[in-house]
Amino acid sequence: MQLREASNIIRTRGGGSPDIALILGSGLSSLAEELENTISISYRDLPGFPVATAPGHVSQMVFGNLEGHRIMVLMGRFHYFEGYEMAQIVYPIRLLKVLGCPRLLLTNAAGGINRSFSPGNLMLITDHINFTGQNPLIGKNDEEFGSRFPDMSYCWSGELNQIIRNAAVNRGISLREGVYIWFTGPSFETPAEIRMASIIGGDAVGMSTIPEAITAAHCGIQTVGISCISNMAAGILDKPITSEEVFETGASASADFKALIREFLRLLPTEID
Ligand code: HPA
Repeated sequence: MQLREASNIIRTRGGGSPDIALILGSGLSSLAEELENTISISYRDLPGFPVATAPGHVSQMVFGNLEGHRIMVLMGRFHYFEGYEMAQIVYPIRLLKVLGCPRLLLTNAAGGINRSFSPGNLMLITDHINFTGQNPLIGKNDEEFGSRFPDMSYCWSGELNQIIRNAAVNRGISLREGVYIWFTGPSFETPAEIRMASIIGGDAVGMSTIPEAITAAHCGIQTVGISCISNMAAGILDKPITSEEVFETGASASADFKALIREFLRLLPTEID
């Protein structure tokens, strides 16, 4: 099985089993530079691992220490709009399970739907709406990973959410909270779609994260998510949305983002029950 081969390669190269894995979204990847005692492994060296094509996403994983934890950072995530199969998009999550990694932090850039948000805000993902009609668990279920009909009520860990909230208070960071709605992209949404997304309960919109979150919930990995609001979603402001804006806002929010994540890690217990 490719997953076992990949995990053996990682172990042989000293990757070991991380305490928590981080997937860093657009403009947020510089946190990886703060890890100590790092080991990098190119996705190309791992059987079955797809290679990222989206701008700003590099194709490697970095293992290292930060705030007393052994961390694994996946730099480069796979989006449905790139044409990957769902199984490829969630391959890294299954690999985490095989490696024995118990926790996952997902981050992304997202459009703000909630009118009380502003670009540059950080939003804790408390729940999600999958508006794509896709699901990474469609197909034969592998009982080794999880059950056929997994409950999504606790997809976003209440315990990890509380640690993020405490971290934001300690660092004086204003943290928003809300529901992330997943659209496939790659076109940004229409103003009518965003009005609908608002009516059905979305606070932020994006093109990633939810396949990984569903797969992590399926196999019992505790998950927490942070969106960086990079722009207001279509039709909220009378101005065009560009991918340049998405990257620029991500980069300008990155000091707060890094401070929040470091404090979260400092507060995170090393052992889990
Ligand atoms: N829509 C979808 N995805 C996004 C957006 C948006 O407005 N901004 C950043 N990612």
